[in-house]
Amino acid sequence: MSRLASLSLCLGLLACTERPGLDAADPSLATLGTGLPKGFLMGTATAAHQIEGGLDNDWTDWEAGSFPDGTPHVKHGDRSGLADDSWNRFDDDLALMKQLGATSYRFSVEWSRLEPERGAWNAAAMERYKEWVRKLRAAGIEPMVTLFHFTLPKWVAAQGGFESRQTMDDFADFSARVASELGDGVDLWCTINEPNVYAVEGWLEGIFPPGKKDDTKTQTLVLANLLEAHGLAAARIRAADTVDADGDGRATLISVAHHVRLFQPASNSTLDTYIAAVTDDYFNESTPRALVTGRILLDIPGTITVDKRIEGLAGSVDYLGINYYSRYIVRADLGAAALSQQYTLPGRPTSDLGWDLYPDGMYLSLMRFAAWGVPVYVTENGIADAKGELRVKYLKQHVAAVERAVADGADVRAYLHWSLLDNFEWADGFEPRFGLFAVDYGNGRARTATPAVETFRAIADHVPR
Ligand code: FCB
Repeated sequence: MSRLASLSLCLGLLACTERPGLDAADPSLATLGTGLPKGFLMGTATAAHQIEGGLDNDWTDWEAGSFPDGTPHVKHGDRSGLADDSWNRFDDDLALMKQLGATSYRFSVEWSRLEPERGAWNAAAMERYKEWVRKLRAAGIEPMVTLFHFTLPKWVAAQGGFESRQTMDDFADFSARVASELGDGVDLWCTINEPNVYAVEGWLEGIFPPGKKDDTKTQTLVLANLLEAHGLAAARIRAADTVDADGDGRATLISVAHHVRLFQPASNSTLDTYIAAVTDDYFNESTPRALVTGRILLDIPGTITVDKRIEGLAGSVDYLGINYYSRYIVRADLGAAALSQQYTLPGRPTSDLGWDLYPDGMYLSLMRFAAWGVPVYVTENGIADAKGELRVKYLKQHVAAVERAVADGADVRAYLHWSLLDNFEWADGFEPRFGLFAVDYGNGRARTATPAVETFRAIADHVPR
């Protein structure tokens, strides 16, 4: 239905239930992917806690609890439990990657599995991750290993998690150990997933452990600690992994996965514009600035300013991982801890989670962050779409946005879709469906291709080799 027709239908019915579709022109699948550079990696991303199953960490503790008003921490009281059972079904998952024609896979290794108690290493678990790396390489799929994707062993959480400097050292030790064990098969490392999201959800929103609300001071200290911890870990990974697994002359390519949001002021008033800029600097700019220049500058006016130079942090990234999903409108609200209310404009196309679907934001983010002078890898991009109505278009339009950025000079080298499979979506439990492959949780976790699988495959097949 045309947008005009659907608008008049909406007006006719007064209360419109039809969700607007994605508005950009639909790129042709006949050529999509041909504009990506030679050797561009097309793949998917997952995280251990969201798919492996059988874990025992700070998140499993959190999932068992509820907020003071009795609402469970996770929607519907869902527990990650067996999740997708990917710990035992790697061969199935690898077959799905092959079906996609994927050339890369980003996954995280689970600290609580590998080091359930300080210094007590689980050799069998390490061996299993090594086997995954071997199998990926044998299938021509370049592994990218994330070392921290939101979950902590309980002993680390008990010492204060990333509020504690001890954890920064422990994380660096853990990273070195994993790099020395997996380094002969892994070149691409992602130390920390989304430092900004982790800090905001755990200390401002209070919906991730440790569940602190409106504590923007500690949130900021945690964010600074995470950035510093990245630097410590990166140096240790470089020392531990000296094997160039893919023969491109580099043994390590290290970064974080940085979550980028487009913030637009709700009006052109000075205050909305100023708060949107403050929010943007804190959330979007502070991370690449720290990793490229070594200066950690985090400023929440009237609350806290951190401004320090960290030795060894400058140049600690070889690429910049960007997770891009959505855009937010920012209305100043100086009474709120975040200094604003953030929302989606009514009438916009949205995912099942209400996230604004805005492919131009991908283009804008890539152009912006490529200007830091390191190659950019899209380490996540995807849509919660249980009915599978929008994912095909979403995928095409976001890859087209990557192609446009490449055509305009951005050095972008990978597109990793979130996600390979439906999975445990943190505070939202199993309800949001992000998978290129759907998972039937009532039926032995059977995996079924969504229509976007063919789309992904066609794009991957077009990448110049
Ligand atoms: C990102 C997270 C990832 C997943 C997607 C939907 O912020 O890194 O684990 O939850 O959002």
